[in-house]
Amino acid sequence: MPLTTTGELVARARAARTAVAAFNIITLEHIEAVVAGAEAARAPVVLQVSENAVAFRGGRLLPLARAAAVAAEHAAVPVALHLDHIHSAALLDQAVDAGFSSVMYDASRLPYDGNLAAIRAAVDRAHAQGLWTEAELGEIGGKGAHAPGARTDPAEACAFVADSGVDALAVAIGSVHAMTTRTATLDHALLGRLAAALDVPLVLHGSSGVPDDELTAAVTGGITKVNVGTALNQAMTGAIREHLTNHPEAVDSRTYLSAAREAMARTVERITRLLSPS
Ligand code: G3H
Ligand code: ZN
Repeated sequence: MPLTTTGELVARARAARTAVAAFNIITLEHIEAVVAGAEAARAPVVLQVSENAVAFRGGRLLPLARAAAVAAEHAAVPVALHLDHIHSAALLDQAVDAGFSSVMYDASRLPYDGNLAAIRAAVDRAHAQGLWTEAELGEIGGKGAHAPGARTDPAEACAFVADSGVDALAVAIGSVHAMTTRTATLDHALLGRLAAALDVPLVLHGSSGVPDDELTAAVTGGITKVNVGTALNQAMTGAIREHLTNHPEAVDSRTYLSAAREAMARTVERITRLLSPS
């Protein structure tokens, strides 16, 4: 089906009190696995490309973006493209042409005033091009917003959303980027206060480390977009490692990449089923 927009998927999830999963893609196998997993769960999904992934591709956005857009157009479920954790206005300006409907502009390592100024400028720039925007708050004790111990203050978040004009806010409630165990404990009381205070959709980053029951409770509590990256890399790398251990003579890359793609698709299916039960 035709590419849809992140704003549309998030609005639909919010109305249904579910959440849409957004997966970070790095290779063609990630793209195919995310689409296959979402199709198996009959759930809409967001394919997201981080600035780090663009750097890994030698600074070029289009090879991955074009592949993602074509995969989305052939998908049996609605798929949107999102640019994730970007710092570059030049990259933001490539989004629309590359098929992206949304961006997460990340200035969260700046102190509050600098973060707000950078996000307000990025939101203006993005909105002028019709892009839905997400941002996060903010540095706590010299750490990023999804470092251990970071928490979003509801009053500060309200002011930040009103003053920046952002369409969605990533909140720090206990999840941490790049966890390889699903052991995070979320602050559901804080999420309740944030959901009550804010009238924009709330986004959970670092969701790979969040156990299933914590994730469903977070969706019930008001999380509408769930970002997952590391879990796919764990599935991919684990499958490749296992295949090569069992088949040390293997040469054809398709053998272990197939195993990797299937393992990632199973992870996507599990998470998308959890977030939007049909
Ligand atoms: O923006 C991307 C996500 O926050 C990914 O976090 O790799 O810890 O799942 P994760
Ligand atoms: Zn993130």
